[in-house]
Amino acid sequence: MCGIVGYTGPQSAITPLIEGLRRLEYRGYDSAGIALGTANRLFIEKRAGKLLNLESALTATPPVANSGIGHTRWATHGGPTDRNAHPHVDNEGKLAVIHNGIIENYTQLRADLEARGHVFTSETDTESVAHLLSDLRKSHNGDLSAAMREAVKSLRGSFTLLAIHADQPEVIVGVRRNSPLVVGLGNKENFLASDVAAFIDYTKRAVELGQDEVVTITPVGIEITDLEGNKLVPKEYEITWDSSAAQKGGFTHFMLKEIFEQPKAVADTLLGRINADDHIVLDELHLTNDEIKSLKKIVVLACGTAFHAGMIAKYAIEKWAQITVEVELASEFRYRDPLVDSQTLVIAISQSGETMDTLMALRHAKSLGARILAVCNTNSSTIPRESDAVLYTHAGPEIAVASTKAFLTQVIAVYLIGLHLAQTRGVMTGHQVREIFEEMSELPAKIEQILETVEPLRELTRGFKDSNSVLFLGRHVGFPVALEGALKLKELAYMHAEGFAGGELKHGPIALIEEGTPVIAILPFGHEHGLDEKMLSNVQEVKARGARVIVIAREGAEVTGAEHIIRIPSASSLLQPILATVPLQVFAYEMAVVRGNDVDQPRNLAKSVTVE
Ligand code: M6R
Repeated sequence: MCGIVGYTGPQSAITPLIEGLRRLEYRGYDSAGIALGTANRLFIEKRAGKLLNLESALTATPPVANSGIGHTRWATHGGPTDRNAHPHVDNEGKLAVIHNGIIENYTQLRADLEARGHVFTSETDTESVAHLLSDLRKSHNGDLSAAMREAVKSLRGSFTLLAIHADQPEVIVGVRRNSPLVVGLGNKENFLASDVAAFIDYTKRAVELGQDEVVTITPVGIEITDLEGNKLVPKEYEITWDSSAAQKGGFTHFMLKEIFEQPKAVADTLLGRINADDHIVLDELHLTNDEIKSLKKIVVLACGTAFHAGMIAKYAIEKWAQITVEVELASEFRYRDPLVDSQTLVIAISQSGETMDTLMALRHAKSLGARILAVCNTNSSTIPRESDAVLYTHAGPEIAVASTKAFLTQVIAVYLIGLHLAQTRGVMTGHQVREIFEEMSELPAKIEQILETVEPLRELTRGFKDSNSVLFLGRHVGFPVALEGALKLKELAYMHAEGFAGGELKHGPIALIEEGTPVIAILPFGHEHGLDEKMLSNVQEVKARGARVIVIAREGAEVTGAEHIIRIPSASSLLQPILATVPLQVFAYEMAVVRGNDVDQPRNLAKSVTVE
């Protein structure tokens, strides 16, 4: 959950490091720091709070150096103070380390190191690595790479580590275990970072690192080895997106930009997914037709917003493919004894591809024999790499911590999987698949239509800014939409918000309603199963108890009891989450703005949750 960047080359390191940290701040923003390799000594500056604090400190004493490492932190061990900010140094102040992840055995390591005379200055798990590396470097005749290989053997947990030493400041050494690290190959300069966004302005050539691989970069080359020191061939790839995708492009916030990118993201995810014979094309699925036919069930594993996409998947896949779908929070699945075997397909949904809970659940399922299909937005990230197959969503980089376009494209991706399974299992004909696909292809224009008419919704939102609590009600696929609306509001507006299944209202939640409580009811289903009518009864029930009700309803739907109606274009019920979610994203966004919150970097959160 921290962002890490390293640079070595001919230019002043401070610029690529600070720019890189700015691009990685979405990963954590409790503190930021850098270590620069100046002749025979390291220049260290670190500050609690956002990157801006570090930048202000650096303006007073602008250092000159051609290499360095930088870190932006989401605190785990030790509070977000200057002292606990990374980099951490050894007692000579010559070796600096930055870290993303958790060193699980740091208590023992620290005790051993203190017994050997090392003096600690922070409460972090990371500092123990700085002291350990310092000792090991000495016993390896000053070879920092060899020291890193040795150190990693005694570390437990998940980590990306970068280290630099004042005696050879042009050399930066990194390693990864269950946490991301990529190499950027420049012209007489090289980079290391948690995410390619950090160096995309400088190079589009990147190299993946595998588990427990140690990389050493200098201005003129890179070397990758395993923990035994055996050299490995770098796996180079080209970054396909442009640096403008990681900029705000005239929007006030990344989140707003990403909300407005949704029509394109959905269209891109659908692109080329059906062939002339009406077959869904999922080249990445890697399951034979026989394997698909013999599947007994599907288990969807995910966290947060991605979990809500998984909940929607259940409605669609069970209806279309006639196969049981279980949806489970990855963090819960991991610690159970689930009934999963080789006839189970696990769909792991993750925007980042780095979420530790999802990764651990995936490994658990794999160990039980399940086949794993990842739905992911980040190329070459850990979850797709450890899966049997991957279906990439084409949302482009999502920078705002609150997930928007990734969610919509995750729903599209799982729908494509559902259609493919239905067709392969002989439950749906090509004609039926084509019909649904064509309706899905109309969604980008419909989202566009919603976005063109959000101004009244933004104004309406501002009127609720002092509410204590907002409740969301939905039924059928509207239930996960309600949960998603509530999650967005919690994380952005810091308001109490809950999503409920409309049918559950009378079983307890209705007690929360008091005079003036805002309730947002999602009513996008038509008369299928009489659900519109049932939801309208819920609206009357809460209204009778003083609630102020906003209803999200498709065009033409009859609505009674609402104080405000937000209309969305019509679509068949299973496709409506893609549309109904958009006004809820705008509601949460506007609420955060009017309450003066940091929209793109909400308090206590990080984009990518790489610790359990
Ligand atoms: O990268 P992932 O999709 O695995 O992330 C999962 C959740 O952490 C994420 O969706 C989180 O809930 C969002 N911040 C919600 O907006």
